[in-house]
Order: sequence, then structure tokens, then C-alpha cells
Amino acid sequence: MGDALEKVLVTEEQIRTRHREMAAEIDADYAGRDLLLVGVLKGAVMVMADLARELHHPCAMDWMAVSSYGAGTNSSGVVRILKDLDTDIQNRNVLIVEDVIDSGLTLSWLVGNLRSRGPASVEICTMVRKPLALDVDLEVRYVGFDLPNEFIIGYGLDYAEKYRNLPFIGTLAPHMYS
Ligand code: IMP
Ligand code: MG
Repeated sequence: MGDALEKVLVTEEQIRTRHREMAAEIDADYAGRDLLLVGVLKGAVMVMADLARELHHPCAMDWMAVSSYGAGTNSSGVVRILKDLDTDIQNRNVLIVEDVIDSGLTLSWLVGNLRSRGPASVEICTMVRKPLALDVDLEVRYVGFDLPNEFIIGYGLDYAEKYRNLPFIGTLAPHMYS
């Protein structure tokens, strides 16, 4: 890690505990119903893998990749599909699995896009929500952690494609991007 990490915000243990709680909620909410988890690449890979293994529900999984930050730390607001779903989601219950919601721009666009495909339902599960996301008209059903407005890395979250493999969530030292 060197000096790239400033501090740990959420430990591995806290992440594991929260996944169990969220998985229990999802199991209860979708009991007896079809469920398709849609992970947003690449950040949601860790959440998807860990959360899905805590679920008892026999759900399907698919992936989408949309453009986000590039190498900087500010949302561009420009959303582009880099990889679309393999699945036809018509009449399916879709649960979008995200790593973080910051401005909410990416997800607002994604929800609109998926709703236009005629699914039975579209809900959102995110590991981290930042304060800006509360200002957008976006209903987030499952939130792992509400964290302050700082640039975070680890547990799927990158800075210039690095640090996704950290098992915890931490803040990037300011000197790394200033
Ligand atoms: P939003 O559109 O601003 O909500 O965020 C879009 C995407 O930017 C997220 O899905 C992440 O991939 C990325 N992102 C937002 N905040 C952070 C952060 O603090 N660290 C790393 N990536 C982030
Ligand atoms: Mg993401």
C-alpha cells in the first residue's frame, strides 16, 4: 500500500457483518419470487461475490459495464454502456448491485435504462452511499454504509484502476490525487 492509504473507514469484519444483514433482508423481501442480481462492473465484483454467497435465495446473476470516472475522482455525468446484459429482463425482478453511489448520476441513468426494458421490478443495493446521493431522486432499497464525502478505495473501489483488491474500505491520501 505504501502511503496511498490515509485511513481505514470500514473493516473486513464490518463488511462481512453488514452483508449478512443485507442478505437476510433480501432473502425475506424476495422469498418465493424470481431474482436477478445485476452487478455493475468493475467495482461491484467484490460486493456481488460476497453478498451473493450470503443469500439463500437461488438467484441468477448478470453484469453490466458502464463508463464512469476514468482516472480522475469526479463524476463526468457521461454514461455509456460498455457491456450490456446477456439476459432479457422482461418480467424479471432486477436487483442492481453497486459498489458506491456518489452523485447518483450513473445509477439514475441505469435505472431508467433498465426500466425501459419491461422488468417486473428494479431495486438498488449499494455497499456505500455518499451524501450527494441523497439529493438525487433515487430510491435505494439496500445501503451497506453511509459514508462521508471523501474519495474511497478498496473492496472493489479503485483509484486509476488500483487498490480494488484491498479487503477493506479506506480513504485515499490527498497527496495521491492533488
Ligand atoms: P456516481 O455516478 O457519481 O454516483 O458514481 C459513479 C461511479 O464512480 C461509481 O459507481 C464508482 O465506480 C465511481 N466512484 C464514485 N465515488 C468513488 C470513490 O470514492 N472511489 C472510487 N470510485 C468512486
Ligand atoms: Mg460502480
